[in-house]
Amino acid sequence: MFNPHRVYEQVGQWLQRTYIPTQKQDMTITFASSACSNLETLHYIPAQYAVGDGWVYSGYEQAACDLITPITLFQDKKAGRFIGALRFMFAHPDTNETFEVLLVSTWNEHHNDLVMVCFPTKYATHWITFEDECERIQSTGMAYQREVFVIGGVHRSLKTTITLDDIHLPPDLKTSIINDVDSFFEKGATIYQELNLKPFRKILLAGVPGTGKTMLCSALANRALKKGLFVIYVSGSSIAGSEFWKIHRALEVASNSDKATIVLVEELDTYMHEETRAQMLNVLDGSETPMNPHGTMLIATTNYPEKIDNRVMKRPGRLDRIFIIPEMTSEADAEKMLRQYLGKAWRDEYREIVPELLNRPGAFIREVALYALTIAAYQHSNELTLEILEESLDSLIGQIEAKENFLSNRRDREMGLVVQGNGRRRRQNNANGNNH
Ligand SMILES: Nc1ncnc2c1ncn2[C@@H]1O[C@H](COP(=O)(O)OP(=O)(O)OP(=O)(O)O)[C@@H](O)[C@H]1O
Ligand SMILES: [Mg+2]
Repeated sequence: MFNPHRVYEQVGQWLQRTYIPTQKQDMTITFASSACSNLETLHYIPAQYAVGDGWVYSGYEQAACDLITPITLFQDKKAGRFIGALRFMFAHPDTNETFEVLLVSTWNEHHNDLVMVCFPTKYATHWITFEDECERIQSTGMAYQREVFVIGGVHRSLKTTITLDDIHLPPDLKTSIINDVDSFFEKGATIYQELNLKPFRKILLAGVPGTGKTMLCSALANRALKKGLFVIYVSGSSIAGSEFWKIHRALEVASNSDKATIVLVEELDTYMHEETRAQMLNVLDGSETPMNPHGTMLIATTNYPEKIDNRVMKRPGRLDRIFIIPEMTSEADAEKMLRQYLGKAWRDEYREIVPELLNRPGAFIREVALYALTIAAYQHSNELTLEILEESLDSLIGQIEAKENFLSNRRDREMGLVVQGNGRRRRQNNANGNNH
């Protein structure tokens, strides 16, 4: 039934009354992807883009439409979606023929994007080829490929400046991770294809909080961008949270990319919901998504590998490698890190506290250093003394122990056990050094 309040009816009527009579051929009206009305996306379609049978795209211009006020929407400081009418021109260089497609973009009564087009019926497939390219460019975040493309986050892209040199890990581990990534993209993707397998590799970085997993992802992303790869970051930060569709979408976008692609998923365990478990397994198998022939590598992190389904963890092929990112295991690394975070304030006597930094995550060492620098500044002290550094260390250890006691006391109380004393154990100083 004709309903004059429906926006698509109004646009349709307008096209029929004012536009189609000006065209002397059989015309078709249909809906189109809003990617075709995005100026940023259109910017990435090259002039003379071939749409089939020798026809090429020859540009677009704004067209008059008295139904809609022309409005340009901006996103991340770039002109994005255009509301109003656009005329797309196509030409056939051999025959000098031309045709045009009129697009009207607006919102419907439910505030959803509404994009309608009107083209000569005989050129339908040429228009659809063009529309598909707009969609591909939009979905692969072409405009954002020099930065990390974000799916499911508050921003569309993010920059990263962290390098692998900033991260202190056992050297063998760091090398193995880098080699895994490099060898897959340099050789592996081709081998997978020769074996008729989907070029899809998945690695998991597992470890307790604060060991540098997020930092490692940022550094790998930074390195990949410099090598010309496409990097997608799946973010749990939008209102939807850690939902399976974000990973699925990221892999779809990866499959559309014309570059080798890294997909980063942090806290993979939080995406393991009962309702979408089966789909997740299929996605990790690669059976649910088409694959990018240049290769897709999924790099995931977790604090809780045990929360990830056994069918993912134990079945070969769902996660290809698991790297355990440890707490500080060597004094040399712990010292390097302390030096890094203390910067110019470093003094050799601080080495005394280094043994106490072992078996602690990197984030702990960073906090010891930053807190000590803050106390020194607060006390207007010109130099950071060993005592201040120890005070910072003590306070952090005390805080961690207090939290552990609080949690274990609560657990005991919940189980009906009476707790004697608080069991708190402070770090002791003695003349020979520190015990803990
Ligand atoms: N191995 C490391 N080398 C250098 N700095 C580190 C390292 N580990 C942790 N840090 C410092 O601690 C901060 C927190 O680390 P990061 O966020 O990468 O840990 P994470 O493993 O991702 O933790 P979570 O599991 O809680 O997400 C970093 O910004 C960095 O300053
Ligand atoms: Mg993290």
